[in-house]
Amino acid sequence: MAATATAPTKARVTPPKVKAEQPMLIGGKWVPSVSGKTFQTVDPATGKTICEVAEGDKADIDLAVKAARKAMDGPWGRMSAGERGRLISKLADAVESHKDELAALETLDNGKPIADSLAADLPLTIDCYRYYAGWADKNHGQTIPVTGDYFCYTRHEPVGVVGQIIPWNFPLLMQAWKWGPALACGNTLVLKPAEQTPLTALRVAELATNVGFPDGVINVVPGYGPTAGAALAGHMDVDKIAFTGETSTGKLVMTAAAQSNLKRVSLELGGKSPNVVFADADLDAAVEGAYFGLFFNQGQCCVAGSRLFVEEKVYDQFVEKMTKKTKGRRLGDPFHPDTEQGPQVSKEQQDRVRGYIEAGKKEGAKLLVGGSDAPSSLAAAHANGYFVEPTVFTDVKDDMKIAQEEIFGPVMSILKFKDAAEVIERGNRTFYGLAAAVWTKDVQKAIRLSNALKAGTVWVNCYDVFDARAPFGGFKMSGIGRELGQYALQLYTEVKTVYMAV
Ligand code: NAI
Ligand code: MG
Repeated sequence: MAATATAPTKARVTPPKVKAEQPMLIGGKWVPSVSGKTFQTVDPATGKTICEVAEGDKADIDLAVKAARKAMDGPWGRMSAGERGRLISKLADAVESHKDELAALETLDNGKPIADSLAADLPLTIDCYRYYAGWADKNHGQTIPVTGDYFCYTRHEPVGVVGQIIPWNFPLLMQAWKWGPALACGNTLVLKPAEQTPLTALRVAELATNVGFPDGVINVVPGYGPTAGAALAGHMDVDKIAFTGETSTGKLVMTAAAQSNLKRVSLELGGKSPNVVFADADLDAAVEGAYFGLFFNQGQCCVAGSRLFVEEKVYDQFVEKMTKKTKGRRLGDPFHPDTEQGPQVSKEQQDRVRGYIEAGKKEGAKLLVGGSDAPSSLAAAHANGYFVEPTVFTDVKDDMKIAQEEIFGPVMSILKFKDAAEVIERGNRTFYGLAAAVWTKDVQKAIRLSNALKAGTVWVNCYDVFDARAPFGGFKMSGIGRELGQYALQLYTEVKTVYMAV
């Protein structure tokens, strides 16, 4: 993700107007929930309700799955692969032509700074749809020279009806990572967005309907995890479930899949990624990268470099530079283009992060920067927002809670190490394996660490680089399967082998 571009002279962006009631999309129709229930989505920068959203439950999931099945067996199933690609491409165009509106809506619902929504979320989302549009007619099988008088070939068929459950930290982007490959491979889908951030998913669904996706190909059912989410994961007529979120929730999703119809499961889960800075690194670049790699998106990133290992020889110098940089971070109104950090997504998340800060203090880590909710410089309008100051702990030890659990907030833990062998061992001492990074000018060291660290992505002298063309996913308990790139097609394809006697 590109670093945030800030232009100090720009005026505040106006928050978008949102309809007071948001229905859900099932079978091409915008409908209320079967139960009639709604839930409120909240602006995390002010704590005020934005609007009421239809609250889906098992009954709504059932209707959405039926609609998706019907669409699979209808015009969508018969549509040519090339035509399918063109539709995804039109969706990319529609998202692009509404990018300012979508960025503002994302900022309103999630709290992320408008500069980030515009510079990172939107371009990456558009690129993802565009990339998968190109795959629609290129995901094909093989002819195989088997023994005997047979003509043997494989067909790449869609898995069928796909359930997708996404989190609140990158709502638009997670939707694109799920929809792009699922649609390119010819599946139909039911999406359950996170209850904290349902608005952009509904708006993109509206755009998809407008560009001509047939009824029922795309269904969006907002609602809570244990109700709507669990109904989707445990549904007998859903062929595959794709989930992104907490590791413990991933286990529930996999259990529900196992106990229902053994639907295919792909999971993108949490992390506690080691970010390793050697003494021979370009120290200023490492400070910049580690700062971005932890604080970006209010620290709400599955890949956050939340175990920052710095070599003993440069530890003090690194800490000094990092402290200075973090103290200058601009926290506040997410609609101001200068803002670098907005609120956490919810009161619940604010409380969780506060809990980790208290745990760090109690366990004897040294608090150098931040540690409280918000500076007094925050405007009155934001007094009830869910802000947490950017926080830095040093003298963090491996067995402390803040060095072991996913904090998902703006809390940096800096640990000290002696040499490569030691940091490899400590870096891998976690049940997570999502990402890792190494800062060094020594090529051999860079390769040694990249090979040894057990993580799905390793960044060398950079952090948070993402591209729709390159796979992403976790080792160990950070997940199952790879999203993005050509690899993601495997998640949404069934391979059929055909033998014909000749
Ligand atoms: P979560 O994993 O509970 O929520 C993610 C999605 O799963 C949401 O759409 C939610 O409604 C759904 N969900 C929840 N329970 C479910 C169930 N039983 N069956 C099916 N779907 C279910 O994450 P939550 O509670 O919002 O955040 C808690 C922590 O999880 C965060 O502090 C963070 O550490 C971690 N997290 C990690 C993410 C990642 O990308 N790795 C994303 C979001 C949260
Ligand atoms: Mg949860």
